[in-house]
Amino acid sequence: MHHVVPLLPRAYREECEVDGYTIPMKAKVTVNKWALGRDPEYWDEPEIFKPERFENASVDFLGNNFEYILFGSRRRFCPGMSFALENIEYPLAKLLYHFNWKLPKGMNPNNMDMTELLGISGMRKTNIYLTATPFHPLVDG
Ligand code: HEM
Repeated sequence: MHHVVPLLPRAYREECEVDGYTIPMKAKVTVNKWALGRDPEYWDEPEIFKPERFENASVDFLGNNFEYILFGSRRRFCPGMSFALENIEYPLAKLLYHFNWKLPKGMNPNNMDMTELLGISGMRKTNIYLTATPFHPLVDG
């Protein structure tokens, strides 16, 4: 739902036909990943945070499933994918393992403002403030 790069711009090198529409040469076309991620034709309850939807799912983000092209697809596929994943998954796992996380007092997770700013990268409109308490596996575990 929340893409780092929500829109992929393209320009047509030659006239061609897509879904019955004639796209003229040099036309600018934008692949809207933001909308694809919210399309109920492809996703069950797309607006709901449901990570388990990916359990045992055949859909991957390697450019084979066009409803989920986080890193693009084919010729212009992101060459930094492995670097990005290492630098997101490992630090995130460390943060989750070493801290307990809480929302500020009285804040309901369902009322969090998930609005994004318009732009090349899909940044949040508002910051999330969390309270982190250190978790020591040997003491607290
Ligand atoms: C979560 C992090 C990242 C995401 C979601 C992401 C996503 C993307 C997407 C969607 C594209 C456009 C593909 C297209 O036009 O079809 C792209 C292109 C590109 N990315 Fe990433 N990227 C990420 C991190 C990185 C990192 C860490 C690097 C470099 C270290 C990188 C380098 C590039 C380059 C050079 C291109 C242009 C490729 C081309 O046009 O041929 N990206 N990325």
